Amino acid sequence: MNVSLETIVSLAKRRGFIFPGSEIYGGLANSWDYGPLGVLLKNNIKQAWWDQFVTRRLDMVGVDSALIMNPKVWEASGHLAGFSDPLVECKKCHGRWRADDIDWNAPCPGCEVRGNFTEPAAFNMMFKTFIGPKEDTSAIAYLRPETAQGMFVNFPQVLNTSRKRIPFGIAQVGKAFRNEITPSNFIFRTREFEQMEIEYFVHPDNWQEQFERWLSEMHDWIAFCGIDKEKVHDREISEEERAFYSQRTVDVEFDFPFGRQELYGIAYRGDYDLSLHAKYSSRDMTYADPVSGDKFMPHVIEPSFGVDRTVLAMMLSAYHEEEAPSVKGGTEGRVVMKLKKNLAPYQVAVLPLSRQDKLLAMAESLVQGLAEQFSCDFDVTQSIGKRYRRQDEIGTPYCVTVDFDSLEDKAVTIRDRDSMKQDRVSIQQVAENIHEKLSAS
Ligand code: GAP
Repeated sequence: MNVSLETIVSLAKRRGFIFPGSEIYGGLANSWDYGPLGVLLKNNIKQAWWDQFVTRRLDMVGVDSALIMNPKVWEASGHLAGFSDPLVECKKCHGRWRADDIDWNAPCPGCEVRGNFTEPAAFNMMFKTFIGPKEDTSAIAYLRPETAQGMFVNFPQVLNTSRKRIPFGIAQVGKAFRNEITPSNFIFRTREFEQMEIEYFVHPDNWQEQFERWLSEMHDWIAFCGIDKEKVHDREISEEERAFYSQRTVDVEFDFPFGRQELYGIAYRGDYDLSLHAKYSSRDMTYADPVSGDKFMPHVIEPSFGVDRTVLAMMLSAYHEEEAPSVKGGTEGRVVMKLKKNLAPYQVAVLPLSRQDKLLAMAESLVQGLAEQFSCDFDVTQSIGKRYRRQDEIGTPYCVTVDFDSLEDKAVTIRDRDSMKQDRVSIQQVAENIHEKLSAS
């Protein structure tokens, strides 16, 4: 179904996925903090990505490089000279806007005055800071605007220590910072965000084949995350629109409520980065094949995934409103987040039907055991109907209800989030039963 951004923002705040940043101080425009459920969801995404693209593959290794790197990295990579957006300034209110977002004939979004913009000027998007106590030019450093360079500058060390042979890749997950002129649309475009990136080193002769293979792997990942594939589209980026380092780019776009926009991107960076780092650092970045003896500068395919855009596309795809049977009889409307079951914040919620001592003790002991294997919630407040609705809204796939019969038959009911079907299962079998259900989903 199509859901508005406001609905997702409100659910995210109400249920503890994502809060406005620094809210008790009036917030900080366009900054967001992940709450208890959001951090679980985000960590599950990052872990699943790492498992899929690094742990289970013999042609991939990982790194975790520093956020603040030697400024020469950004000189060599071209970010100091070229990582900029064209910006216009309103001569009246001095508000600054991206030139490509502005309609020159429309009023200024800041002060409503018409036709009063400066000519576009390049604005570098890297966040500048100073290392140490002196705030002079020799101490200038930058927060990394992409995780990619941490993989390029470590290429020779990774090659020597991992003994990988081309084709192979380096992966990294971590924060990136960009002084975006118009951060907007919730967590879609922010100044601080997380990326999951791969630099895949190939022989120059077969980059096309590797590019297609990686694009297809990106789509497999999208399907794995439960992102609505009807809303996903590939867009070949023209030469004029491509980033300065890329010889071919495909943007994988998603139909967000605010329009079709980039979810992920894949670029063919050629030998752009390794050659420039070789030049600026005077280090040998070439690869010598131990079998053929071939020596060459590897070329790079870069599949790049935004963590926050993954969260947003998953939440938008998962949101459903539907009529469902009520525990009181008849039907009632429910909101259910049909998140991919393995990636949902909690896999299991244990709900004792009453606070009666024996029931509570049984439920507590059950949840303690399950928490060793699954991410679990435990909720004793409100009616069972309201507790089911809350778990539906946060996407918990299985609710385990401990009722008065449980004290006699040592069994509980397991309710499926999507079908709402309930199975009676012996307490001994609950963990195994949930494992089976999760692996079948
Ligand atoms: N290393 C290549 C690179 O950084 P990019 O297209 O600029 O390429 C890659 O960024 C991905 O990072 C995007 O597809 C998007 O998912 C995410 N991303 C980029 N800028 C972002 C921002 N301001 N806020 C949130 N996510 C962002």
